[in-house]
Amino acid sequence: MNLLITSQGIETVQADAVIFFAGEEYVAEVGSRGPSSHADKVLVQVAGTDFKGENGQSIVLYSKDIAASRMIFVGLGKQKDMTLERIRKAAHLGLQRVKSLNLETFGISVPTIEGIPDSDISVAMTETLVLGNYSFNKYKTEDKEKRKEVKDAILVYPFGDMIDDVQGDVAAAEIIANNTNFVRDLVNENSDVMHSVRIAEIAETIANKYNLKRKILAENDIKAEGLGLLHAVGKGAAHPPRLILMEYDGDPTSNEKIAVVGKGITYDSGGLNLKPTGYCETMKSDMAGAATVLGIIRTAAELKLRKNLIAVIPTCENSIGPNAYKPGDVVTSYSGKTVFIGNTDAEGRLVLADGISYVIKNLKPTKIIDLATLTGAVRVALGDYIAGLITNDDAMAKGLSDAGEKTYERVWRLPLFEEQKEDIKNDVADLANMSKEDRAAGTIAGAAFLEEFTEGLPWAHLDIAATAFYDKPRGIQPKGATGFGVRLVAEFLRNN
Ligand code: BES
Ligand code: ZN
Ligand code: ZN
Repeated sequence: MNLLITSQGIETVQADAVIFFAGEEYVAEVGSRGPSSHADKVLVQVAGTDFKGENGQSIVLYSKDIAASRMIFVGLGKQKDMTLERIRKAAHLGLQRVKSLNLETFGISVPTIEGIPDSDISVAMTETLVLGNYSFNKYKTEDKEKRKEVKDAILVYPFGDMIDDVQGDVAAAEIIANNTNFVRDLVNENSDVMHSVRIAEIAETIANKYNLKRKILAENDIKAEGLGLLHAVGKGAAHPPRLILMEYDGDPTSNEKIAVVGKGITYDSGGLNLKPTGYCETMKSDMAGAATVLGIIRTAAELKLRKNLIAVIPTCENSIGPNAYKPGDVVTSYSGKTVFIGNTDAEGRLVLADGISYVIKNLKPTKIIDLATLTGAVRVALGDYIAGLITNDDAMAKGLSDAGEKTYERVWRLPLFEEQKEDIKNDVADLANMSKEDRAAGTIAGAAFLEEFTEGLPWAHLDIAATAFYDKPRGIQPKGATGFGVRLVAEFLRNN
């Protein structure tokens, strides 16, 4: 989909449809006083129809007065309830009507809304159009013939100088949203296509394109370097493990280096603690953290972000078979700490631990953010809309929470107390990958384990197990991979 920008009169826009937004107060007011501006003249056409500008309402009208004969009106509800997310949902609804009419081009009249900066509205519109147009149809044979793809979306502004003000933000939003769709494609792909070696190839392609330093450890290196945890988890699979590191140096004047670490389990069968039916069908998505990290470093390079980043991706498949690691094993990590394997299904924390230790020792980051589909427990705690955040750093907590509010990829901080750190200690080994309290506060137990490897650096852990992959569409998010975390971390990095 091409995103175009214009300030030509909306009535002259050549497209299959134009979308207009209107709140309840505005519809009522214009209805009673009659039109005074051009925008009013468009809106007055809904007078006498059922369209009242209510939230979630939309109507399609046909008019000979405008070049794009179809007008799609979308309600914004009451001014007092206005939020950016409401604007995203309204834009999403408009796009859905365009798609259900099987149209190829549309204009969208970008509204000005009291109390919300124009650039925020433009960003919300842009990301919604790009994200809302996403579909994973690679494996569909029928739909492809019937459905037309949306080709052009034209953002229409009332004044040319408004475009000057928002253009940069729109371009950035488009980059971020395209990278979110890139992440969705990786996560929606079959696990036997998107395996560890393939992920390493994709990383290599990104590194080549953006001229990034990179290091990719193959299975021999992983063994030789003593990344015992990553090696153990990957042992049972047909595809060998990889540890991927990429560096983006966007600010040579700064000593700060942020490592962004992503869990890259390309399929999580649970290992010998095999997952039952009902729990394994979505486990190709267990590399969502890794895909998100690829999306973030690509975003940074494309935005030329003034930040130094290190992408870290430990990736392998958690499989079963004669070579698989076993419950009861004790494994030595890269850090030297030994780990008792209480459950082979708690594998994410193991590969992340080695990834974190490796990057700390070899590339010396000053801060760490990890993204991982780590625990089913995060869904029990926070549901499907909110990622779990556990951090030892209040500034990172605030930065990530604020970024979450802005992008609506929201996070909620959970605590990590001394007792919970004790719960992952073990009598045979230094640590266990299962808590002594079994599954109680499972999300915190996972974080407590990771914390053991962070060497006191400022660190934030995002548990995206519930938010990365959906069983049905929610809000503007599609069924399947959401790409959750790209907008959140990009926003965080741009502001912190
Ligand atoms: N990949 C899963 C977590 C998960 C669950 C992701 C649901 C997405 C949706 C993870 O490796 C796992 O299996 N965790 C276990 C941990 C337990 C054994 C301590 C869990 O959550 O049950
Ligand atoms: Zn698991
Ligand atoms: Zn897993």
